[in-house]
Amino acid sequence: MMKRIGILTGGGDAPGLNAVIRAAVKTAVLEHDCEVLGIRDGFDGFIDEQGIVPLGMQAVRGLLPRGGTILGTANRGNPFARLVKRDGKQETVDVSDEIVKGIEKLKMDALLVVGGDGTLHIAHHLYEKGVPIIGVPKTIDNDICGTEVTFGFDTALNIAMDAIDRLHTTAEAHHRAMVLELMGRNAGFIALHAGMAGGTDVILIPEIPFKFESVVAKVQERVELGYKFSILAVSEGAKPLGGEQIYSREGNEVYVPRLGGIGHAVGEYIQSQGFETRVTVLGHIQRGGTPTAFDRILASRYGAAAVRLAAKGIFDRMVRLQSGKVTDISLEEATAYTKQVQLDDDLIISARGMGISFGDE
Ligand code: F6P
Repeated sequence: MMKRIGILTGGGDAPGLNAVIRAAVKTAVLEHDCEVLGIRDGFDGFIDEQGIVPLGMQAVRGLLPRGGTILGTANRGNPFARLVKRDGKQETVDVSDEIVKGIEKLKMDALLVVGGDGTLHIAHHLYEKGVPIIGVPKTIDNDICGTEVTFGFDTALNIAMDAIDRLHTTAEAHHRAMVLELMGRNAGFIALHAGMAGGTDVILIPEIPFKFESVVAKVQERVELGYKFSILAVSEGAKPLGGEQIYSREGNEVYVPRLGGIGHAVGEYIQSQGFETRVTVLGHIQRGGTPTAFDRILASRYGAAAVRLAAKGIFDRMVRLQSGKVTDISLEEATAYTKQVQLDDDLIISARGMGISFGDE
């Protein structure tokens, strides 16, 4: 009989995290008469004082439409390399044994870890140390290979589409080229889908290296056709053919490198070729605010399914969407590689057929 489970949210936030927490608590309490403990700020909550909070039905009231996560999160919270200050210096230490002991002391029958590939990798390693883990995939980037869709992606995509719609009207009024830099790390899903949904003229994604000249040729072509403006969706991970991705911050053993700057590079080039251009970097707005209906439902399905797995005593698995159904997959397989846009994706083929440029021709 499952008596007590824990839940934590790790890595960057994504709209729908609270919906997972709500579904997990409701399912645990109502279906299994099981207590739920929330762990604050990712794995840090096992170490910090007051890092554990009971989550009853009252705690999850009104959570469904709320963005962020009531538990907090940490994208530097790797227990195998935790950042600490010693004698005024910063260093990393392995505190994974402390985490394992903490979980044992709390007598948790399962720990639900809601995170992206980094957090889910950590979760798998903790399972190898004896922790009964179940993973739930989240990220706006949609780049976890073990699932068809992560929650958070649909919301980010809709926010990006709204930004494109707004850029359209001002671009048209001023006869400008408008560049919109979007998130997604090394996967172009947000830019590709938002570009298609918003009807941009150019989409630049990491999977298709682009030529600056081809991008400008599209802008020029539109002017010749009588359209005095252009909209470009540029993924933060896009890179020129033979060139490198642009980072706004280098990485180290705690932080992954942060992409950013390609939008400005593209904008400056277009401007240098005589077209008035403006650049918008949408940034963390893509991760904020209320989740879409799709993300609320997917997150709820994932949260409830994760508790059902815990009740069956099935661990080291991640819940996922497969052909529209929620099933599960081993954590190792689910995080084996980072998913990217496939070049034979019908969305790419259709976009090309509709005259959208990927900057490669
Ligand atoms: O993985 C989600 C994501 O929003 C990426 O799209 C982006 O590159 C990164 O996180 C930004 O990270 P941070 O919140 O650390 O700035």
